[in-house]
Amino acid sequence: MSSSSSNNNNNNSSNNVVTTTITSPNVGSLRSNTVRSFKVMDVLQITTEQREREPRIQVLHLEVGQPETGAPKQVADAAIQALTTTSTSLTPSSSSSKTNVMGYTDAFGLVELRQRIRQHYIDKYYSNNNEEIMMNNNMIPDISQIVITTGSSGAFLLAFTACFDVDDVVAIASSGYPCYRNILQALGCTIATCAINQDYKLTAIELQIEITKRKQEKLPKIKGLILSSPSNPTGSMLTPTEIHDLCVLCNKENIIFISDEIYHGISFGDVKEATALQYAGTDSNNSMNNNNTNTNIIIINSFSKYYSMPGWRLGWMVVPTQYVQSINKLQQNMFINAPTISQTAAVQCFNNPHTTEELEKHVTKYTINRGFILDIFSSGKLRGLSLEKNVAPADGGFYIYIDLGDDNIYENNENIILGSVTMCEKFLDEYYVAFTPGIDFEDPNDLTNLGNRRFRISYAGSTENIKKAMNKFILFWNTIWIIDIATAKQTKKRRETTK
Ligand SMILES: Cc1ncc(COP(=O)(O)O)c(C=O)c1O
Repeated sequence: MSSSSSNNNNNNSSNNVVTTTITSPNVGSLRSNTVRSFKVMDVLQITTEQREREPRIQVLHLEVGQPETGAPKQVADAAIQALTTTSTSLTPSSSSSKTNVMGYTDAFGLVELRQRIRQHYIDKYYSNNNEEIMMNNNMIPDISQIVITTGSSGAFLLAFTACFDVDDVVAIASSGYPCYRNILQALGCTIATCAINQDYKLTAIELQIEITKRKQEKLPKIKGLILSSPSNPTGSMLTPTEIHDLCVLCNKENIIFISDEIYHGISFGDVKEATALQYAGTDSNNSMNNNNTNTNIIIINSFSKYYSMPGWRLGWMVVPTQYVQSINKLQQNMFINAPTISQTAAVQCFNNPHTTEELEKHVTKYTINRGFILDIFSSGKLRGLSLEKNVAPADGGFYIYIDLGDDNIYENNENIILGSVTMCEKFLDEYYVAFTPGIDFEDPNDLTNLGNRRFRISYAGSTENIKKAMNKFILFWNTIWIIDIATAKQTKKRRETTK
């Protein structure tokens, strides 16, 4: 650098250009260089490339959280029909076309789809309430508050950009979806990582601890919170009361609560699904601000999980009115609109009994897959692992999250030598089954290195593949992994006693 600046001073222009190019290659923004990769996608790339090199090898993918089923039939049919029938003029220019040219839609998306989503809130969450009261309380969104997005990922970018400036502090759970941290960092926000409780949840109690700590240490205030319930990777689910309490605390502390509800529709057991929208504007006296147009709650959802349409890149958000204009402008500039073909077809996701029947069959399959895996952990078939001690709640979503515990890893001088990263690599190498190590999901600054102690199994695939994969895991675990750990520990002990 110094030589190039002295050259600059000499005005030796042609040499300068060459010197500058060699000594300071353009490596992009500092912010983007600090963003971590999404490890699940890395594993997917490696396994896909491996299969291309050796087509005989069939990798069982229990690492990626995507349904193996395609879009519901009625949705696919609607897409085909939309592509092959005469346009109903989505844009003025398409009206003369023989086929629907799939032009742009409004930035916020097709009105019909937004209407169906609005109705979905009434049907799913508020069926016992009076619509007029709910409207007054802002629990039911106006369609002007519903934005169709390019997956929930597109919604994160819109919401984060609309709500936060560089250096604003945003709270996330210590075990959570990695892209929250990565996108926020790319936007220059500061992360406040809140440790989850022993039920693998971030509740108002954990958020309050972080708020108090920051006040005591005179750190900048938390401006936003993002979390998903059901959670990826833990499968834990907040109860309606826990969601209510988080909304009340965020309201009191003026924190924008972005509630990622992407796994709604896929839940098991007793915890009822509630949307944070129903507590928008609630204060600690449980009263609602009736003129509450400017609540601090943003809901994000997607067609990628329950609706089985991950590649269609479609999601939605419900935004308080004070953000409508800024999000509209951001959407126009960043995405223009979510894919028109996907929007057109997704209308069939709602209020269509055939679609609902098909989607509920998927949930039945997830229930079977989940039961099969949990039974293995509770049966003692995996020596040294148990449901109570090692497995997170698995109340919703399609993930089982496992903590290996101290007994099933090998540490030397506080470095984990054999942890979940090596375990997943070895299992993939020897049995061609892909799991995801916890490094994607855990706080990278955590000193106990939970990411290398935990791993995630996705049971979104076929029951047949889940069974095959888990039977291979039993074999791998009992004949390779725990033997490797025992051997490493014995060798270490022997070395220590002979010292
Ligand atoms: C919690 C959570 N939110 C968002 C996403 C991204 O989904 P989309 O396909 O809607 O962008 C995922 C994907 O796995 C997820 O697990």
